[in-house]
Amino acid sequence: MSHTLDGKSVVITGAGGGIGRATAQLVAAKGASVLCTDVNADGLKETVRLIQAESPAVQVVGEALDCTEHGAAVEVITRCADAWGGDFHALVNVAGVIMAKPLMEVELADLERVFRVNLGGMLVMSQAVAPRLTDGGVIVNVSSSTARSASPSLAAYGASKAANAYLSRAFAAELAERGIRVCGIGPGAVDTAMPRSIMPPGAEGERLLEAAVAHTQLIKRLAQPEEVAAAICFLLSDDASYITGSTLWFDGGASAAH
Ligand SMILES: NC(=O)c1ccc[n+]([C@@H]2O[C@H](COP(=O)([O-])OP(=O)(O)OC[C@H]3O[C@@H](n4cnc5c(N)ncnc54)[C@H](O)[C@@H]3O)[C@@H](O)[C@H]2O)c1
Repeated sequence: MSHTLDGKSVVITGAGGGIGRATAQLVAAKGASVLCTDVNADGLKETVRLIQAESPAVQVVGEALDCTEHGAAVEVITRCADAWGGDFHALVNVAGVIMAKPLMEVELADLERVFRVNLGGMLVMSQAVAPRLTDGGVIVNVSSSTARSASPSLAAYGASKAANAYLSRAFAAELAERGIRVCGIGPGAVDTAMPRSIMPPGAEGERLLEAAVAHTQLIKRLAQPEEVAAAICFLLSDDASYITGSTLWFDGGASAAH
């Protein structure tokens, strides 16, 4: 099964690196036009360069955009949809931030920062894109396995991702009358900059990361971003036509084991 996206057009947030970049590359390789957005303009430039080299036949645009800025998002979405001559078929909300802190030390400002991007960003982008999404379109939201397990020091992040999974269900209910499917995906540890950003630098951090994966998952390695991208492309494709409101726990068996 190839999960083709031929002729579709897809908006992706957090496309400047990691899972977002891998998703943008795979979506393009499967034949879709792709609007890549991120606050990281340099990362975006590299994503666009890679897609142009790998998938020269598809349309690709990179737009620096903060996913929490509704007015800017509407402007970018409208401009690109008009230029491409039609509404989008899909939105993938990948942008996110992480914070590691014991719950007893978490301040309201920490919570606001993490929830603003991880929950607010997907809310704002869904609101901005939905009016320019075709009936029968798809939204995929990247949650996290931490939404289901009480990881030490990751409670604020996990709470934001649990709320993210909840909004996937709520958006699925609200947009069902237009035939729009809304799905979540909850990865475990993925081989990107994000998990390393909360580890000590160098070999010690790698050792701790590997130990955490071995302790929590049945598949005792980090997922590659390309593996997450493949699952997202399945959810975006017609092969997933009966899936909505669900979050796929893409966690190497962590939720089965704990
Ligand atoms: N890597 C993991 O282990 C893992 C596990 C579970 C879930 N996730 C989730 O996957 C998603 C992608 O993470 P990643 O691992 O690729 O990390 P990453 O740090 O490489 O990617 C996150 C991207 O989001 C962008 N971003 C942050 N704030 C933004 C904003 N306000 N507006 C627009 N873009 C913004 C960043 O610039 C970055 O490019 C995140 O939502 C993350 O929470 C990651």
